[in-house]
Amino acid sequence: MKQVWIIVIFSYVAFVGITSGKGVDLTFPKGFLIGTATSSYQVEGAWNVSGRGESVWDWFTKTKPERIADGSNGDTTSNSYYKYKEDVKYIKSLGLDYYRFSISWSRILPTGYTNQINKDGIQYYKNLINELLENGIEPIVTLYHWDHPQFLEEMGGWTNEIIVDLFVDYARIMFKALGDKVQRWVTINEPTLICRYGYYVNSLQIAPGKDLGDVGVYLCGHNILKAHAKTYHMYDKEFRATQNGQLSIALQCMGYVAADGNDVDTAFQFDCGWMAHPIYKGDYPEIMKSRVALVSKAQGYSRSRLPRFSKKWISYIKGTWDYFAFNHYTPVYVTRDPDERKGIYNSDTGLINGILPSWEASAGIGFYVLPSAFGDLLRKLKDEYDNPPVWITENGCPDHGEIEDYNRIRYHYLYLTELLKAVKRDGCNVKAYTIWSIIDLFEWNSGFTVKFGIVSVDFDDPSTPRSPKLSTYWWKNVIKSRKLLPIPTNSSMMLKKEFSSCHARSGPFS
Ligand code: BGC
Repeated sequence: MKQVWIIVIFSYVAFVGITSGKGVDLTFPKGFLIGTATSSYQVEGAWNVSGRGESVWDWFTKTKPERIADGSNGDTTSNSYYKYKEDVKYIKSLGLDYYRFSISWSRILPTGYTNQINKDGIQYYKNLINELLENGIEPIVTLYHWDHPQFLEEMGGWTNEIIVDLFVDYARIMFKALGDKVQRWVTINEPTLICRYGYYVNSLQIAPGKDLGDVGVYLCGHNILKAHAKTYHMYDKEFRATQNGQLSIALQCMGYVAADGNDVDTAFQFDCGWMAHPIYKGDYPEIMKSRVALVSKAQGYSRSRLPRFSKKWISYIKGTWDYFAFNHYTPVYVTRDPDERKGIYNSDTGLINGILPSWEASAGIGFYVLPSAFGDLLRKLKDEYDNPPVWITENGCPDHGEIEDYNRIRYHYLYLTELLKAVKRDGCNVKAYTIWSIIDLFEWNSGFTVKFGIVSVDFDDPSTPRSPKLSTYWWKNVIKSRKLLPIPTNSSMMLKKEFSSCHARSGPFS
């Protein structure tokens, strides 16, 4: 192949099937931020290095490898513990504004208790933050992205209320250690997903993979809300005056579609609203309270499986946010469960989740492409929560690791077009968009069978080399011009030169 790399010449030729960009001003608003993200277990590796304790994901992948599509684990994964400088080089080369990463709780507190604080763990995150700041990239820190210490799980994990104060203790250590350099925090990533897939009988797909009937799921959510709120108030009391950062929780909000608008609302309230309503409006959504009470009764429970908050807790949790953070990936089509007419209750929502045959699938199971559902969701958040400042803390598309990742570019293009429409036409207050993910990583129960990175990682090579994909170049140009550029139609547009410096090995591989 010719070794001459032509500086990006994006073809402005029309691209098949794309019409939604028409008539939309594709320039990002002034001050709009674009960043990228990863999470500790998915990229760090170094699972038993330098005092790190066992996390629930170490335990889950080792004891239940059959739950992971390829039986793999995050022992080494993308090796970012050693190669973080290379990751930062890519982030800088792309011109991204911020990097959202998470802290491995068990790297800091191997058992979850504060009697043993791992200084090496803290130093690792200090080094990463310094590297980011030296390169003009803002660090955004998630305290918890699903990998709590296994020792805490053995005591019940998120279903034992003791974890609430232990989480606050851990958060305090991190605010103290890193807060002088961090202006934006996320307490917990996608709580509903941990609770629904980690503690619920019908799924068991993610750690800790516990079968706690349909009771554990709400207990988990209840304790997470308390942990988030207590952390927020602790920050207010002990750190806000000196550190003046912004805190929120990153929710999962899918894009619901249904023939009946009421069903869309019900599905939304059981997903996004489950956490958002208590934090942004106060207490659980009415529909959740009434439906779970109804179904619990029909199942013979003497009280609702959805725990109740006291008045004190309701007002304590309400308002514990500085911005609205959410992750979005896929649409879901909901229909009413016909069994309910016969008095049979199969689910708390009374809905059946599905898809429409016309929806475009991606390489990931359960990931479909429907940009309009994302636009509708942004408008729903605006109406529901009084147009708060919104940060999209994750959005991206799985594939099989193609270097010419046209589908990924197309996905980002279409979703960002919807975002720009929602902002410019409908007045949605969206402040930032986060690409999931900067590099290929361990994708939970899918292992390494699907890839999300805009930069490739070769997991077959023990030195886990990074290399650019087509989307690396596309994104670089989008960020440079602060405008959505068309989807390329061929791969003649490489600009290898600009990325060659990123290939230098770092850490133990240098
Ligand atoms: C999670 C990520 C995950 C992504 C794709 C999000 O729910 O926060 O950790 O990689 O989905 O599945």
